[in-house]
Amino acid sequence: MILAGGLATRLRPLTLVTNKHLLPVYNKPMIFYAIEAMKITGIKEVLLSTSADHSGDFANLLGAGEQFGLKLYYAVQKNQKGGIADAIALAKEFASKDKLLVILGDNIFDAKKLKPIVNKFQNKKKGAMVFGIKMSTRARQYGVIEVDELGKVLSIEEKPENPKSDIAQTGIYMYDNRVFDFITKLKPSARGELEVTDLNNFYLKEKTLTCEFLDWWIDAGTSYDELLRANNQVAEKIKKGGIV
Ligand code: DAU
Repeated sequence: MILAGGLATRLRPLTLVTNKHLLPVYNKPMIFYAIEAMKITGIKEVLLSTSADHSGDFANLLGAGEQFGLKLYYAVQKNQKGGIADAIALAKEFASKDKLLVILGDNIFDAKKLKPIVNKFQNKKKGAMVFGIKMSTRARQYGVIEVDELGKVLSIEEKPENPKSDIAQTGIYMYDNRVFDFITKLKPSARGELEVTDLNNFYLKEKTLTCEFLDWWIDAGTSYDELLRANNQVAEKIKKGGIV
């Protein structure tokens, strides 16, 4: 599943009319990177959730996914500020009894590294997986993952004032099918959202949450500066033959 909803208030006025995930990142709309990442990991069917206001724009641009060589389905998230876990709940019927890979539509990363990890996760009986990245600064803008020396997750906190580590939680998650039951148990956070961090903490509590690490990742949707950084870094990588 790819999430492309939300209000993107941090990028206004760019997002007053246009959905954030349709803004350009170098030579293509932002959302292309998440779809291409799905393709690279070998996923053949993708559910894209967005708001009613913008679903037509996505359908016009992406159709049924033919140009990417996968099948695209659409879901509409009614409450645009419902939160990431609220959007994930929309995939219940789509996922049926399968596991779910979730990618936030404003995240850009090197998907080649994901493929073997996704394959390994497919064979796991139960659990969830998060992907972390070491930041030099700024981890407190994200979910922050604390791990021990063996890489075991000790805690995940959403945008903490005093982060326990410099590892940011990226917007890539894998869940077993119980994720939909866990979401029904979530309560809205102080900012009124069903938080992905609270969801991941259900798995952490039952000791079935694991963490893998990425070495390059950008959340292009957090600020003008991150969007600009995404444009510059992606341009450089594409010119060198990287990222798809
Ligand atoms: O990108 C990584 C971060 O994403 C994580 O470190 C945080 O733990 C996680 O909460 C999330 O934080 P953000 O503040 O960046 O979330 P944002 O509101 O920007 O939304 C992330 C993506 O999810 C974006 O592509 C829009 C989509 N979204 C968001 C909300 C709140 C939806 O589709 N529906 C929603 O209701």
